[in-house]
Amino acid sequence: MSDHVSRVPAATAPVVVAIDGPAGAGKSTVGRAVARRLGLEYLDTGAMYRAVTYGALRRGVPVHDDGAVAELVAALTIEIDHDGVRVDGVDATTAIRGREVTESVSAIAANSAVRAELVARQRAWVHERGGGVLEGRDIGTVVFPDATAKLFVTATPRVRAERRVAEMGGDVDEVEAAIVERDRKDSTRADSPLVEADGAIVIDTSEMGIDEVVDRIVADVQRRSSEGVA
Ligand code: DC
Repeated sequence: MSDHVSRVPAATAPVVVAIDGPAGAGKSTVGRAVARRLGLEYLDTGAMYRAVTYGALRRGVPVHDDGAVAELVAALTIEIDHDGVRVDGVDATTAIRGREVTESVSAIAANSAVRAELVARQRAWVHERGGGVLEGRDIGTVVFPDATAKLFVTATPRVRAERRVAEMGGDVDEVEAAIVERDRKDSTRADSPLVEADGAIVIDTSEMGIDEVVDRIVADVQRRSSEGVA
C-alpha cells in the first residue's frame, strides 16, 4: 500500500458578499462598486420586494391581504438586470422607486410567504452564478449567514435624509422623519428584522468617502476568501 497521500485541492468556495443596512445608507453605491472591483454580479434585493409591491398594486391585490399577496408572489415573474426591472414582462424600473410603491413596500416585506419565496430566488440567483454581491436587510442574517463577508452599512438618519434630498429633492426634516419611520418598521417586524448579522463589519458612511468604504470592503473580502474564512 502506498504511503502517498493524495491531496485533492479544496474546491474554491463561491464568494458571496452580504451587504445589509438601513435605507439610504449608501448600500447600492457601495455594493455596485464592490461587485465591479471583484468581478461579481450584483443583486439589489430591495428591488425584488418593490417589484412584488408593484405587482400587487397593478393587479389590485390589497397589500395587507397576506393570503392574496402570497398567491400573487408565487406566480410573479421578476426580472432584474442591467436594463432595469420587469414584473410579469412589464417595465417597472421607474415605478418601483415611486411614492406609491415606497409607501406600501413595508407591508409586503413583512409578509412571511413573500420573504420565503424571495429568499429562495436569491439563493438560486447566487447558485446559478457561483457567487455574487447581494444588498438588502437580511442577507447576512437569513439568506447567506455563511457569506464570505458580511457588511452592515449605515449612516445617521440626518445624513441619509440629506443625501436623498440632494438626489431627489424634498424637505430634509420630512425625509428624515420618513426614514426614521421606515427604519422602525424594518427593524421591529417579526420576520427577519433589520439587525446586524453575527460577525458583520459595521461601516458608518456618514463621514467616510465612497472610495474609502469600497477599498476597505474589497480588502476584507480578498483577505477572507484567500484565508477561507467564512
Ligand atoms: O432597500 P429598499 O429601500 O429598496 O428596500 C425596500 C423595502 O424592502 C424596505 O422596506 C426594506 C425591504 N427589504 C427587506 O425587507 N429585505 C431585503 N432583503 C431588502 C429589502
